[in-house]
Amino acid sequence: MGEIMVAGIDVGSLSTDAVILRNRQVTGSSIIRTGADPKAAAERALDEALTMAGEKRERLCFVVGTGYGRFSIPLAHRQITEITCHALGAHYMHPETRTVIDIGGQDSKVIRINGRGEVDDFMMNDKCAAGTGRFLEVMAQVLEVQMEDMGALGAGSTKQVSISSTCTVFAESEVVSLIAAGHAKEDIISSLHEAVAERVAGLALRIGVRETVAMTGGVAKNRGIVKALEGKLGTTIVVPPEPQLVGALGAALLAHEQALRS
Ligand SMILES: Nc1ncnc2c1ncn2[C@@H]1O[C@H](COP(=O)(O)OP(=O)(O)OP(=O)(O)O)[C@@H](O)[C@H]1O
Ligand SMILES: [Mg+2]
Repeated sequence: MGEIMVAGIDVGSLSTDAVILRNRQVTGSSIIRTGADPKAAAERALDEALTMAGEKRERLCFVVGTGYGRFSIPLAHRQITEITCHALGAHYMHPETRTVIDIGGQDSKVIRINGRGEVDDFMMNDKCAAGTGRFLEVMAQVLEVQMEDMGALGAGSTKQVSISSTCTVFAESEVVSLIAAGHAKEDIISSLHEAVAERVAGLALRIGVRETVAMTGGVAKNRGIVKALEGKLGTTIVVPPEPQLVGALGAALLAHEQALRS
């Protein structure tokens, strides 16, 4: 049998990610900002991943697009929802996964999956920014810290401060007041992590959590959020090495299946 080379591209609200699979093994990947031109982001993410794999577009036999911007990827042969892709990607990384929590830029999702990585049920919060990466980005800006540093900073918290608003706009002005009142950034960040975890845990408990729980999406890179969620759900959470690539990985796995069929 010849080689099967495929790609998955996830055009999300904040990041566009691509994964190249050669015979179902990852050989290239990329993560870039989506920006204002999702089509250009998709092409650039794909080309960067191809460069890493040492491959060319012509060698791809199937491309699957996912994410909110999946319909702006002309070079994709098929579009598949993020729910299906995160489920398959998480299953590939950790086959024992039965619950996937994906926190991205603009929404959060809890997906229950079976032993084959198929979706049993899911729930999504896309009505408000609280409980998303966007919320954390807004707060990082107000606090003048880098997104990447929030996990470590929050771990240095020594006392609890209260943030009562569940709405991003009101929580933002609460954070401004807390800074003015002289509260440590570490304590504020830790409370923000608790607030995000509370929202997502609420979603998870409504749909029901089965172990093993895996976390995907960029926010899973924040250890503070993962720990806060573990506390609220009373379980450990596995985080794949590149949680932000899991959607694109799932899309690539579907592309591989399609390529086998055609
Ligand atoms: N190194 C990092 N440390 C902490 N948080 C991070 C890091 N990298 C990304 N993030 C978080 O991940 C979020 C983006 O996640 P992701 O790329 O999965 O979103 P997306 O897929 O574009 O969004 P959506 O799925 O909602 O359309 C950012 O808002 C940020 O909060
Ligand atoms: Mg996403």
